[in-house]
Amino acid sequence: MDRNHLLRELSDFLRIPSVSTLPAHNQDCRRAADWVGAELRRLGCSDIQLLGSETHPVVWGVGPEAPGAPTLLIYGHYDVQPPDPLGEWITPPFEPTVRDGRLYARGAADDKGQVFCLLKAIEANGTPPVNFRFLIEGEEEFGSKVLFDLLKREPQRVAADAVLVADMSYVAPGWPAVYSTLRGLCYAEITVRTSKTDLHSGEYGGAAPNAHEELCRLLTRLKSENGHVNIPGFYGPVKRPSRTELAAWKKLPFKEKDFLDKRVQAKGLVGLKKYSVLERLWALPTFEIHGILGGFTGEGAKTVIPAEATAKVSMRLVPNQKLKAVERQLAAAVKRFAPRHVTATVRFLHGADPAQIKLTDPSFQKLDQAFKSVLGRGTVPARAGGSIPVVPALASAGAPVILTGIGLPDDRLHAPNEKLELKQLWDGIEVFRKFYELLGKNGPS
Ligand code: BES
Ligand code: MN
Ligand code: MN
Repeated sequence: MDRNHLLRELSDFLRIPSVSTLPAHNQDCRRAADWVGAELRRLGCSDIQLLGSETHPVVWGVGPEAPGAPTLLIYGHYDVQPPDPLGEWITPPFEPTVRDGRLYARGAADDKGQVFCLLKAIEANGTPPVNFRFLIEGEEEFGSKVLFDLLKREPQRVAADAVLVADMSYVAPGWPAVYSTLRGLCYAEITVRTSKTDLHSGEYGGAAPNAHEELCRLLTRLKSENGHVNIPGFYGPVKRPSRTELAAWKKLPFKEKDFLDKRVQAKGLVGLKKYSVLERLWALPTFEIHGILGGFTGEGAKTVIPAEATAKVSMRLVPNQKLKAVERQLAAAVKRFAPRHVTATVRFLHGADPAQIKLTDPSFQKLDQAFKSVLGRGTVPARAGGSIPVVPALASAGAPVILTGIGLPDDRLHAPNEKLELKQLWDGIEVFRKFYELLGKNGPS
């Protein structure tokens, strides 16, 4: 396959600003879905459907028949996160640019570049060695509602011998991974109201409650300085990884100091210090504040006591925690920690249960073999800190869900200057080509 041609095709996909969380980009999301649909048609899919939404449809496809061969369901997402802060991009987020063998664009690694890789690996094989099914959604970055509703109505869409999800990264350059857990997510807005309207801070300051101050106090009650989340019941279901698993993580090419210096690039790490950094990232739940709204934030100075303040927060959940239970726990904790003179409310925006996958199905060995044949090293088992809401639903019919990917840990997902290294893409196409071939060899499982 001509690499320049492939790069042009991927760049066309990346130029579409399919930001699912911003309604201004609804038409762009639709265009990205159409782009995926057209690719599936070129691959010879017989049945292509855009399902569940006019603007953020799930793209469904059924590949050409491979009689007697197993069925592989490919999942991915064509939507992306907002590109801001725009000023920090070296080249604009939706003008894909190659520098030093890296392709820079929003969605390059998460997940358009990886979806592209899985599709081109099919083309590279000639006659398809397995029966492909596709579910490529457009709302992953906003909680996957359309796909959840579709699977609730039509659960048979996930019927397959295996599900392949390439939406993550190697653990280090040269070290491909397969993931046994994903964290879940509970995203909420906490709003504090202290008075009917804003008040003059001279006339009222000293006696009137201040919404921002009350919100800050509430937030610091929810999580301590040492990283402990103080929501009653929150850690109840959390289990520590086994000793074997913790020992295996010690052998991964991961150095806490490098993680701080090269990736986080801060003055120090925070969190529950008695656990290793990997355990904090992969096996413990979190509480983060994403932004605080309200009061006066314009230029200049305004002396006012704000009547309302809102924080956007989220919690990452780990296996055995349940989204519904955590929602109840947060609502109860906010009620309990807010003083009487404050009206505090919680609104839940979206969320996901955590996922846990057994890595025992023979298809995992085939993926390992495919990576080994291309890179000289097979997959290491790891866990993921991020979330893919629909994974538990993809696993619900019993098929093994293979969580892997071709990204690198420093791809800057969701951040300025997101990139995909071209070597990762070219290797990836070869790896998945090989994987499909191996999967097809032994007939249905
Ligand atoms: N591809 C990521 C998930 C991911 C990132 C897994 C890094 C493993 C390592 C996915 O696109 C993502 O960002 N998901 C969101 C989901 C949320 C908005 C419901 C996330 O994790 O924030
Ligand atoms: Mn993704
Ligand atoms: Mn993402």
